[in-house]
Amino acid sequence: MMETDNKGLAVVVLAAGKGKRMRSELPKALHRVCGRPLIQYVLDQVSPLEPGEVVAVVGHGAEAVTEEIAARARPVLQAEQLGTGHAVLTALDSLERRFGEVLVLPGDSPLLTADTLASLVEARRTAPSAASMLTARLDDPTGYGRVLRDEVGAVRGIVEESDASGDERTINEVNACTYCFDRAALETALGSCARDNAQGEYYLTDAVANMVTAGLFVVPCTCAPGEVLGVNDREQLAAAEAMMRRRINRALMASGVGMTDPDRTYIDYGVEVGGDTVIMPLVFLTGKTRVGRECRLGPMTSINDSTLGDGCTAELSWLDGCTAAEDVTIGPYARLRPGCQLAAGSKVGTFVEMKNASLGRGSKVPHLSYVGDARIGEDTNVGAGSITCNYDGEAKHETVIGDRAFIGSDTMLVAPVEIGDDATTGAGSAIYRDVPGGSLGIERCEQKNVKGWREKRRRKDRG
Ligand code: UD1
Ligand code: CA
Repeated sequence: MMETDNKGLAVVVLAAGKGKRMRSELPKALHRVCGRPLIQYVLDQVSPLEPGEVVAVVGHGAEAVTEEIAARARPVLQAEQLGTGHAVLTALDSLERRFGEVLVLPGDSPLLTADTLASLVEARRTAPSAASMLTARLDDPTGYGRVLRDEVGAVRGIVEESDASGDERTINEVNACTYCFDRAALETALGSCARDNAQGEYYLTDAVANMVTAGLFVVPCTCAPGEVLGVNDREQLAAAEAMMRRRINRALMASGVGMTDPDRTYIDYGVEVGGDTVIMPLVFLTGKTRVGRECRLGPMTSINDSTLGDGCTAELSWLDGCTAAEDVTIGPYARLRPGCQLAAGSKVGTFVEMKNASLGRGSKVPHLSYVGDARIGEDTNVGAGSITCNYDGEAKHETVIGDRAFIGSDTMLVAPVEIGDDATTGAGSAIYRDVPGGSLGIERCEQKNVKGWREKRRRKDRG
């Protein structure tokens, strides 16, 4: 909750651009950083301000962008993308008169923070002035508009890189394209913007110079360089991802999650991890994933859209869309495909693939197995090399195994088939009929031992 009332403040997020430099079919606002579209980060940082309205200017890929922002912002269509100034004008046309103040920010700067936005709004009100604008000093200002100041440090205007002189390009203070405006002053200033620049666009940056020329005051607010990164190309997208990743990992570590190498730990926005869980390098936690306390993850493990209870371990494994209760052991080299449910204390071991299968409490599939479309009870052991033959070439069938069963090594369970409680299958059997509870199911040829075979063979070879 802000102390001041922001009901008269409208927020305008600029997200109509194609993002040409991304060289992508996907609208720029929908490109993802740590699993989340750029535009969502921007909207997140706006909401703590509790503004009277949030508007998003959409254009390129308008339908998809509108769907993404859903209830979070009111879309305003900028049918032709004639520049940031034109985008803001389009938004202003649709704003009720009760909004006297407008916060403008780009849809491609996911690292801006709510605190910075709040101080920008605050700065304009305290001055009081026609506008406040966010700037940052960058080691490498390439690509950004540069802030022009006079001898006493007052803002004179902004020059885009493509219009800047050699001298102006040496300025390292950049424009973040984030401003808080007095609405009336903004409308007047935009009214006299022209397209006489290198890109032939209506620049929002020109509004700042117009205000200064009209004798109005524009307050600069400088923020940390890490906040202003604008994503215009794939390289900047990767840079934004790296910075966001650091933020996510730092917050998790602060909450008690251990990471042996946070620079090599990849966690999506919104993933939850409990305290005292330790994450080793090359772990990817993505999508809607939740991990409990005191787990050990990695090295080299990918967990997507999955839930793990407390005390689980997963190493060198790939999990997607599965649920594990407490103290489940996974891997090394396990592949869990969607629809797996692993009960407490169960184990999926080395080189095991599972799909749409449930494993009861304390049950184990320790080595080299494929378990698909199966329900396995409690305290059952599936021997090495055993396989559910769930597919007959046309349809998938289910395998049901009861509690305390013992599936001998290399059992082929030809589904549909049911193995009862306390049943056993003989190693190497192809089990195609149900095995009743407590019984042994064995399907095997009689073994023949040929006496002196080696010697006979040798003699034969010598002729
Ligand atoms: C802009 C600023 C530049 C600043 C930089 C900070 C201008 C002219 N330049 O440059 O000074 O340093 O941001 O990141 O303002 N958009 C629309 N409609 C349009 C054009 C753009 O909605 O017609 C949106 C884009 O989708 C984007 C934002 O406005 O989200 C900024 O546009 P972009 O083309 O990325 O501007 P930059 O060249 O980065
Ligand atoms: Ca940009």
